[in-house]
Amino acid sequence: MSHAIANRWNLPDLGLGLGLRGKHIPTILRQQPKVGWFEVIADNALIHQGWLRHALDELAERYPLVLHGVTLNIGSTDPLDLTYLKGIKALADRWRAPWVSDHLCWTGIDGRQSHDLLPVPYSEEMLAWVTQRVRLVQDVLERPLVVENPSSYLQFHQTTMPEWQFLARLAEDADCGLLLDVNNIYVAAQNHDFAWQDYLAAVPWARVCQMHVAGHTTFATHLFDSHIGPVDPPVWDVLRAAFAACGGRPLLLEWDFAIPSFARTWQEAQQAWAHVADLAVPKPPAPLVVPTAPRQPQLTDAPQSAALMRWMLDEVTGHPTGVAASQWIAGHGRLTPDARVAIHQQMYAARCDDALLEDYPLLRKFMGKKPFLAMAAAYRHAVPSTSWALERYGEHLPMWLAGQPRWPPHTAALAQLERALVQAHLALAAPPLDTSLLDGLTAADQGRLVLHFAPATQRVELDFAVLPTAPGPQVWLVARKVWQVNRRELHPVEARLLAQLMAGVALGPAMAAVVAADPDAADALAEHVGAWLAAWVQAGAVARLELA
Ligand SMILES: [Fe+2]
Repeated sequence: MSHAIANRWNLPDLGLGLGLRGKHIPTILRQQPKVGWFEVIADNALIHQGWLRHALDELAERYPLVLHGVTLNIGSTDPLDLTYLKGIKALADRWRAPWVSDHLCWTGIDGRQSHDLLPVPYSEEMLAWVTQRVRLVQDVLERPLVVENPSSYLQFHQTTMPEWQFLARLAEDADCGLLLDVNNIYVAAQNHDFAWQDYLAAVPWARVCQMHVAGHTTFATHLFDSHIGPVDPPVWDVLRAAFAACGGRPLLLEWDFAIPSFARTWQEAQQAWAHVADLAVPKPPAPLVVPTAPRQPQLTDAPQSAALMRWMLDEVTGHPTGVAASQWIAGHGRLTPDARVAIHQQMYAARCDDALLEDYPLLRKFMGKKPFLAMAAAYRHAVPSTSWALERYGEHLPMWLAGQPRWPPHTAALAQLERALVQAHLALAAPPLDTSLLDGLTAADQGRLVLHFAPATQRVELDFAVLPTAPGPQVWLVARKVWQVNRRELHPVEARLLAQLMAGVALGPAMAAVVAADPDAADALAEHVGAWLAAWVQAGAVARLELA
């Protein structure tokens, strides 16, 4: 028998959904499976403005999309990143997302990032701090923020209440929603030796808007929320109890590592639904409630929490402070305080190094994997990550490598070229090029031609040649033809002409400027300029043509 409790906003009951993962998108677009809804990682959607943005536009026409963020950093004492937040709001409007979710955690402080969901102390100070920030976030989003319970491996001395009490009070005081991740509840219960039934007993069900279920990994000392593989059977019990308590909620499966085919992932989600389908009942509409919770006094700082976070971020990012972990963290059971911090240290290193491996495949091949990873570790230690987007973590690598005599100069040059390829991949799509202007263009008019380049287009000047390596400079054109990034080494005269054109100079004056600087360039220009123009258009470099 299940209780039918609607959520406080009467948000739609979307049924069974799936955490959308990039590798499944082509299959989903092709097969249009009967999935109730998709949860999109908001951060990915924000930074990948090319193919992913386009694919999500297509999916939004056919499926409800909900946005799930990972770097809102709601628990941090840093100011909220309003640019990020407004970006999420714009995407939520674009895809008509009924709500936006993120985690009860912090992900960075003093502008430095952890790329991990780090726990907050469950203290009165932190509760007041997060409450006012959630209210602010909801004012920007103009829709409910749905806060997810985190998986956790450690507990701070500053903590004065259980997580379930903190979340229940937060939901009431901030008038926000909750995302109940039943796997996280199970993982936390095992890691901190509490009964998951106690957790569920304290959940304010009218606040719960969504649920997650996922796989985890069992180690000798703890459970790790890996989102890998099938769901561990005991987690079905937690899911069933949660459904029984409220009559069901939009449910989805998260599978993030060693991701199998779409068919296998969707099968696992359907299995989750099979465990609870009998408990999902229609809910009567909840009476519309005008929140009466008094606003918390505005806090200008959360000093105790800030001190803890500064210490922890130094430790997590591999800059030991000399302060023992036991001063901040309770050590009980199978793991010492240091071992608990080490779990997050490993996550930071793995996420950063994986980002470099993904962004710099040519460099990895050029250096060899072991030297590449040694370089990645040195970079990680020297250059703190300061962007919420892991895609931007490696953007300082070319410049950093250029200052490192340990590696040959070609290394930095190759990194510079690969960085441009990454940026081209992420860039906003340009509308298709209209070439009708070129039809019947007189020789006199050609000189007035102005080329506008696509956001993905870059002219990359290297101090040392790469591919193949050689002494001397080299210039490349990096462009994107629809979604395919391409690169082409430029003739020296072509490179100079392109520099003029990219500065907005019309073709005639641009050619004149190149010849004025180097009279020998005249022959190459006369012979090749038509072919170069055609090659740039073919590469997708040009977005628009006009006559000056
Ligand atoms: Fe989750």
